[in-house]
Amino acid sequence: MKNVGILISGRGSNFRALSDAVEDGRIPARITLVLSNRASAAGLELARERNYPTVCIPSKGVGRDAYSRLLASELKAARADLVCLAGFMRILGPELVKRYPLRILNIHPSLLPAFTGLHAQRQALEWGARVTGCTVHFVDEELDHGPIILQHPVPVEEGDTEESLSARILLHEHQIYPEALKLLCQDRVRVEGRRVRILPGGAQT
Ligand code: GRF
Repeated sequence: MKNVGILISGRGSNFRALSDAVEDGRIPARITLVLSNRASAAGLELARERNYPTVCIPSKGVGRDAYSRLLASELKAARADLVCLAGFMRILGPELVKRYPLRILNIHPSLLPAFTGLHAQRQALEWGARVTGCTVHFVDEELDHGPIILQHPVPVEEGDTEESLSARILLHEHQIYPEALKLLCQDRVRVEGRRVRILPGGAQT
């Protein structure tokens, strides 16, 4: 059983999807911390309703390294084996990333390496991409850069707006993020350089 810490900043729909999968037994994990850098994050309210340990550490005006030290001590106290960034709007400092090698996951609303950073869905529309999607990847010291665990393509449709495209991508985010966490918790993920190999399920699934 892995202990998982989830970091959020807002709505928390990916956190909800992860939590649903943990609670109905699809993922052999315990959520031992839900941390937000914003007190107003709707996801925090959900975490309280579900009786998870919650912490809010406002990040405004706190430098990246100092903030990462605060995160590190909360994750340590929560005995987190894995960390899921779920719409967490702060970049982690290198010290923190090194402390959890190949143990921090992120979900990004594009097919990486295309459209990194903010407003990935808008970037895809403005670029005229025919296909975009979502990616679950390991976090390394560069933004939206670490080895890719799972991806799902989403076609861009005629007449799509940022909202309509984001909504269709989000449906797939809610599928692939729990799936990726499950694979990690089942110890079925091997990383060879940038390439991630998924071991077959067999008896563990
Ligand atoms: C998602 O689109 C995710 O891909 C991106 O931030 C958004 C978070 O949404 N990293 P939510 O808070 O999980 O609903």
